Amino acid sequence: MKILRIDASVRGDDNERHSYRSISRQLGNALMERLRVNEIHHEIKLRDVGKTPPAFIDEAWLAACFTPLEKRTAEQQQTLALSDQLFDELAWADVLLITTPMYNYGMPAALKAWIDQVSRVNKTFSFDLARGDFPIAPLLSGKQLILLSSTGEFGFEAGGVREQMNHLAPHIRALSPYLGVEQIEEVQVQYQEFDDARHQASLRQGFALTVEIADRLSNSAFSYREKASA
Ligand SMILES: Cc1cc2nc3c(=O)[nH]c(=O)nc-3n(C[C@H](O)[C@H](O)[C@H](O)COP(=O)(O)O)c2cc1C
Repeated sequence: MKILRIDASVRGDDNERHSYRSISRQLGNALMERLRVNEIHHEIKLRDVGKTPPAFIDEAWLAACFTPLEKRTAEQQQTLALSDQLFDELAWADVLLITTPMYNYGMPAALKAWIDQVSRVNKTFSFDLARGDFPIAPLLSGKQLILLSSTGEFGFEAGGVREQMNHLAPHIRALSPYLGVEQIEEVQVQYQEFDDARHQASLRQGFALTVEIADRLSNSAFSYREKASA
């Protein structure tokens, strides 16, 4: 199993004050720890966009994308070097593990910058007006997305008091087919800013759900191995 882990919080997971540690990163750590306990063989690539945000795309980047490969200048190749590398990491992965905070009701800019960098015509998607009103089609497939997030407020779930303000998971779900995602598992811890019993309950539930996801992933890794050795 090949896992690409993207961490998007600007907070680390090792602050000496426990309450300052990134919750989304800790959820990611819990998932990886459970895979270790379950003795699941996996390879992992880490992309910490929270600590090292990718550059924003610009006009030169766009022009380079739309220049056929054989016509790209050395400068254009350089312009796309990071994008090529990030795309290769995504294409390599079976599982995309994204740990992210909610910032301003959506994803952090660094995570959006990563998505803009990997979303490439003729690499992640093809564009063909012969498809009518839906000209964009994914070129990657078969990946599983595990989305582990944390919010300060609450009620972002379906039917919740802030459902309409939630532009984090719905946004990522909308674009996920273009990352090759066909299956999504999601955990969201809420109430961080209240630091009360509701937050503690949400944390307990979030970590328990994360362990369940790791166990399901472990089972699918076993069945994959059995199939491969059959
Ligand atoms: C810049 C910034 C913007 C935030 N915006 C929101 C928000 O719009 N809604 C919300 O519920 N919480 C918001 N929060 C709170 C975070 O989502 C919360 O602290 C979360 O636990 C951060 O994830 P982390 O623990 O992985 O760092 C914001 C926090 C920061 C630092």
